[in-house]
Parts: sequence; C-alpha cells; structure tokens
Amino acid sequence: MTIYRTLTAVAAIAMIAATGCRPEPASEAESAPEPKYAVDHHSFGNPNEIAVTHLDLVLNVDFDKRMLMGTATFKLERNSGNTLVLDARDLDIRSVKHGKPLEGGEHAVAEFKIKEGNEHGDILEIQLNDSAELVTIDYSTSPDAAALLWHSPSQTHDKNSPFLFTQGQAILTRSWIPIQDSPALRITYNAKIRTPEGMLAVMSAENPTEKNEDGVFEFRMEQPIPPYLMALAVGDLEFAPLGDRTGVYAEPGLLEAAAREFEDTEKMLETAENLYGPYVWDRFDILVLPPSFPFGGMENPRLTFATPTIIAGDKSLTGLIAHELAHSWSGNLVTNGSWNDFWLNEGFTVYFEKRIMEALYGPEYAEMLNVLGYQDLLATIERLGPESEDTELKLDLEGRNPDDGMNDIAYEKGYLMLRSLEEWAGREAFDAFLMEYFRVHAFETMTTARFIDYLDATLFADAKERPDVEAWIYKPGLPEGHPVPVSDVFDRVDSVRNMWLEDQTAAAVLPVEKWSTHEWLHFLRGIPEGIPAEQLAELDAAFDLTKSGNSEIAFAWFLQSIHSDYRPAFDAMEAFLIEVGRRKFLEPLYAALAEDEAHLKWAKRVYKEARPNYHSVTAVTIDEVLDAGE
Ligand code: BES
Ligand code: ZN
Repeated sequence: MTIYRTLTAVAAIAMIAATGCRPEPASEAESAPEPKYAVDHHSFGNPNEIAVTHLDLVLNVDFDKRMLMGTATFKLERNSGNTLVLDARDLDIRSVKHGKPLEGGEHAVAEFKIKEGNEHGDILEIQLNDSAELVTIDYSTSPDAAALLWHSPSQTHDKNSPFLFTQGQAILTRSWIPIQDSPALRITYNAKIRTPEGMLAVMSAENPTEKNEDGVFEFRMEQPIPPYLMALAVGDLEFAPLGDRTGVYAEPGLLEAAAREFEDTEKMLETAENLYGPYVWDRFDILVLPPSFPFGGMENPRLTFATPTIIAGDKSLTGLIAHELAHSWSGNLVTNGSWNDFWLNEGFTVYFEKRIMEALYGPEYAEMLNVLGYQDLLATIERLGPESEDTELKLDLEGRNPDDGMNDIAYEKGYLMLRSLEEWAGREAFDAFLMEYFRVHAFETMTTARFIDYLDATLFADAKERPDVEAWIYKPGLPEGHPVPVSDVFDRVDSVRNMWLEDQTAAAVLPVEKWSTHEWLHFLRGIPEGIPAEQLAELDAAFDLTKSGNSEIAFAWFLQSIHSDYRPAFDAMEAFLIEVGRRKFLEPLYAALAEDEAHLKWAKRVYKEARPNYHSVTAVTIDEVLDAGE
C-alpha cells in the first residue's frame, strides 16, 4: 500500500511532465483514499472492516455422502465493527464460535445468520464480541457444491478409486469454504484432510508425496494467497519427480506418460526465473486430473491442476504448463484486484508464457502459437461485436457472472497490448520493467488504474509521447497500428491447403510429414466452413484425423466435421464429448451442433449421458448453449 501511494504521487508528476494534463477516465477517478481491499462486486465479504488473514482447515472427505465436513478457523484483522461477513454457497453451517488464541479450545458460541445473497452465493453474518481474534465455523458442503466434482472409480483413468477435485476460480471457493471470496484479499493456511484408506490428498500447498496408513494429510501454505487459489484433490495418486523443484502427480496408470510429456518443466521454471525473477513458491508440481477437469489448467500455487488432454505424446501442448507456471508471477504473486481486472492476470500470463516458449523452442515456434492466439482473438471480437464493451480489457461485470468476462479478450488482447509495449520500449527495457513490476508488487493486488499509474511512473516516465494504453484498456476492438503476429511456417501451410482445396493435389501426397500440431491446427482451422463431406473424407482417409489422439487436432477436426455434416467422425466425437469436460472444447462443439436441428437432437442425446461427468462450470455453460439452440 505504502509503495503504491508513493508511486501515485510520482506518477502524477510524471504524467504532467510527459503529456500535459491527462484526464483520468471518469469511471476510474478516485478522490477518496483507496480502501485497503479493492471493491469487488462479486463478494459480500467486508474485509475493510474485518478481514480474514489466516485459515486453519480441518476436513473429512466422505465419498459416500459426497460431502466435506469439518471446521474452518480464521484469524481476523479487525479494523471496525463487530460483524464479520463471509461468502457461503450451499453450505450447512452447524455452529460458529469465537474467541482469542490463548483461551484454548474454549471459545464462546457466536451468533450467526445466513442471508440470501444472489445466484452465486449467500451472506454469512457472524456477530463477534469486541475482543474476538479467531472464529471457528463448523460446517459441511452440499453434495452439489459448485466447486467440487466427485467421481466414482469408473470415471477415473485407472478405475480403481474414486476421485475428488475442487475448482475455485472465479467465485466457487465459497461453495466449499465459508470465506471472504474476493481476489483482493490474501490468506495463509494450514489444513488437515482425512481421506478414506488408500488415497492421497494434495492441495495448493506443501504436499505429501506418498499415501500413509491413517489417510490423514497435513498441509501448509505459508505465503498469502487469494481465496480462489485454495485447492484440494483426492484420489489414487502417485508422484514422480521431474527435477529438483518440479514433479508430477497422477493416477498410477498415467504417471509415466505424464512424466515424459512434462519432462521440460524444470527447464521452463529456470527459463521463467531468468526472465522475470526468482520463483517464490519453492516447488512447482503438476497434478493430472481426470478428463472431466473443466479447464486446460489451473494455476493453484505449488500445484498446477492440469487436464490429461494435453498429454499428446509429443510435448506439443505443453505451452499450457508454461502458462500455468507464468501465473506464479502474474496472478498468484501480483493478483487482479477484482474480476474486472482479469486481463492483468491472463494477459500478462499469456505474454510471459509466450516468452518462455520462445526462449525454449525458438521464435519461429512461438510465433506459430501467437498466430493461433491472434486468430482466436479476431474470432472472439467478431462474436462479441467490434463495438461491444466486453472487448475492452477493463471489464464491467457488476451484476453478471464473472465467467462472462473470461474469454480471449483478457488473454489475447491483453497479450497484444503487452507486445505493443515491448515493441515501443524495446525488449530489454520492457523485460526490466516487468521484472521490477513483479518484485515491487509481490503479494499485492493490482487494479487496472493502479497499473496505468505504475506505467506512468516507470516505463513511461521519460517519454515525450507515451503509448495510448487507454485505447487498449477502455475502448472496444483493437487500436490502430496494433501488432499482428505472422508466421512464415503458416504461410506455407496456407499454400498447401490451397493446393488441396483447388484440387491440384490429392490429400495423400500433401507435404505434411514434418508438420507439428500447430501446423495441423492452422491447416484445419483454415478450411472453409461447410466444404463437402467428401473432401473431409479424403483427408480422413489420408491422415486418420477422426482417430487423432491429439485433443486440439481432434477438436478442430470435429468442428469441421459438424459444419460439413461428416458423419463418420460423429462416433469419435460422441466419445470425446462424454469423456472430456474441458469447456474450451465443449462450448464451441455444442454451439456448432446447436445450429442445425438434426445435430441439436444428436447433441442433446449425447449431453444426457455426458452431463453427469462434467464439472458445474462446464455444465452451466452447456445448459445455456443447448437451451439457446431450442
Ligand atoms: N486461470 C485460468 C483458468 C480459469 C480462468 C479458471 C477463468 C476459471 C476462470 C488458467 O490459467 C487458464 O488460463 N487456463 C487455460 C490455459 C491456456 C490459456 C493455456 C485453459 O484452461 O484453457
Ligand atoms: Zn491463465
């Protein structure tokens, strides 16, 4: 906080010196002193009055009842008032006690009430006496808790044991822990998790590497983290080291393949540190989840959660590991103040991820990834509409589901803006700026306005003419003169595709032997929508695309198959839709299916079988997609 205030003053002077008097956009103008915890429309918590600062969590994992039950004890930072307000969603709160640490276990009963909040959760109000420094909540979760996915053994890779995992981001932690569920606050935590025999529990914390006889596991997270990074998984898990500070957890039957796929992780970690400063979380391990995991990856500190669909056999999809690793700086160390500032997490992370990939695999490789990202961005701008406010980097998600803002704008437009700053400042200066940004703001929250102030005070301080970052941040679409990634490799793919499309060359003789996954993706994405199914059949006969074991290629192929009604791919697509719960794949596939009556009918039949395998974040999205298609 102090650091920020100083910078603001410096920034104001620098701004006037550099540009004359630049008016702040009205929405960001602030006259009153900033509160310690940034405003967050997606949490009912009142941290500016009483904040939770440390959590002791004791939970039993009951696979039969599909419930977590136990206690959450919070240390409090009291500024004003006697009412502690927490977020709680579908929790059964049995009792609340409060007291001081030295009173031992004998804490007094505290009054509490649960008030109705909104569709994202309710309001838990606890009345404290003047001296209470601790509060203990005895509770259990609902079998339908939105953050949790409970799997029976048949839904796992090895089919031996049940599996449980949590997904907290954006606002689901409140469905398994009563907490002030805002990214603007940070807590340290200890946890004790009791599991059935023969299982291993892991968390976003210091982790065990082996099962034990009593099934009780203890965890410590000594660095303060925002609540959306609280994470737990329980399953038949084993550990394999990858390097000194890196390793992987997976079901035994997947462990070897996972360890091979992720063998570059230690190198990625070293590369990341060379770019933007020391890794402060001690270890970086990866947990491979069941394919139902709703995301590609989730940057839970010390233990990234990852979909098994990136295990392609050739390391071609491990950019995702670089991405989650990069969040150890952008997101986990410097955290978006509210979900309106989500681009500060994801845009920085995509930029950082691409720099890791470039350092490890060369600029030509990284530029292919950049072009694919740029294509996604253009498609998203087109879908949302070039004038849509949702294409601005700074979002206004008040009254909406934060999920609505979690699309390629934050990721890819955010990336392009940082790339434009790199081009303006030069790589060396920009890298120094970023390294310093992470150092100065470590373990703090960052808002968009604060970031602009920081830019003005540092990177832009001596500039005669500074870049118009406001155009990127507060205006829709892309500013004029924005960077455009181009790849010579992809240009060659374009001519190969044209040769084939114009029927000068049979698919079987196309020069594709040396193609990477990315060239295939570019090839498939560039096929005009709805070409005759016979043409897809020709490709399939030559390259067996329907049977591709690469999830990204399969996804791109299925999309084309839907558009061309290429039926021979539908059985494989059905299996994919039932097994995989990754929303990034499922949403576009179901949306494409919903465009045609016969396809929609087919999709609904498949969805009926698939839905019980999906996590709530995916199910909620697909419910909407299919209802809209009615
Ligand atoms: N933090 C995100 C996942 C996320 C975003 C969860 C919003 C909940 C709400 C994660 O770092 C991410 O971006 N994952 C991407 C990876 C990709 C960009 C390499 C994914 O899951 O596809
Ligand atoms: Zn991310």
